[in-house]
Amino acid sequence: MDLKKVERVYSNYASVYDHIFGKVFHEGRESAVRNLNLHPGERILEVGVGTGLSLPLYPSHCRVTGIDLSAGMLEKARERAAAHRLAHVDLRQMDAGKMEFQDDSFDTVVAAYVVTAVPDYRIVMTEMIRVCRSGGRIILLNHFSNGNKLIAAVEKAISPLCKHIGFRTDLSLHHVLEGTSLQVAKKEMVNPLRFWHLVECVNQKNGQKNGQDITPKNGSPLSAH
Ligand SMILES: C[S@@+](CC[C@H](N)C(=O)[O-])C[C@H]1O[C@@H](n2cnc3c(N)ncnc32)[C@H](O)[C@@H]1O
Repeated sequence: MDLKKVERVYSNYASVYDHIFGKVFHEGRESAVRNLNLHPGERILEVGVGTGLSLPLYPSHCRVTGIDLSAGMLEKARERAAAHRLAHVDLRQMDAGKMEFQDDSFDTVVAAYVVTAVPDYRIVMTEMIRVCRSGGRIILLNHFSNGNKLIAAVEKAISPLCKHIGFRTDLSLHHVLEGTSLQVAKKEMVNPLRFWHLVECVNQKNGQKNGQDITPKNGSPLSAH
């Protein structure tokens, strides 16, 4: 899928997205944000924020930036932010593979059901690592391809079809993390049938070691684990 197709597919989804993917995947969003233990002033980036289903979950004492490629999805997110009066939330249309933010702009980067929906997950991972400060956290909430050979074969077979509806099913966590500076700090299974991963990674770029400097630039220490 290229960027234009992704934009089109998700803008077409926008009006029905919450009905299809809202409730059923919400446990994962709630766990992701709850586990963050956010501190005052913490800078959060949510990549592929979609219709903003997770936005009301963030406490108002942190600063949340949400980006998405799809104008239609973002419009819904803006409506939600206005309805919930989320003054601490800033929403922008942007390609996660080419972000307009400077290096180290965020303490925590969240990608909920996104890495399998982007045209090139490697570029997006590189960008997330770049804009997240060293020692910060990157949270991946996603279905990743299963270790079970039979299920993995099914996932591989249906992936080309699923791409037409906006995501792939054959991507493994191993491939997403391979060659990156990310260290897995915590991993749990969430959502119905425990089929989705919630993975908390520490960004060890610049040789940052796990758990060393996890203090937000303007706040108190983060709990990374
Ligand atoms: C499956 S939806 C997930 C939405 C939301 N995070 C949620 O929890 O429901 C994937 C989202 O990623 C967005 N997306 C896909 N490729 C993108 C890219 N390159 N840059 C920014 N957003 C992208 C889509 O427009 C869509 O809103």
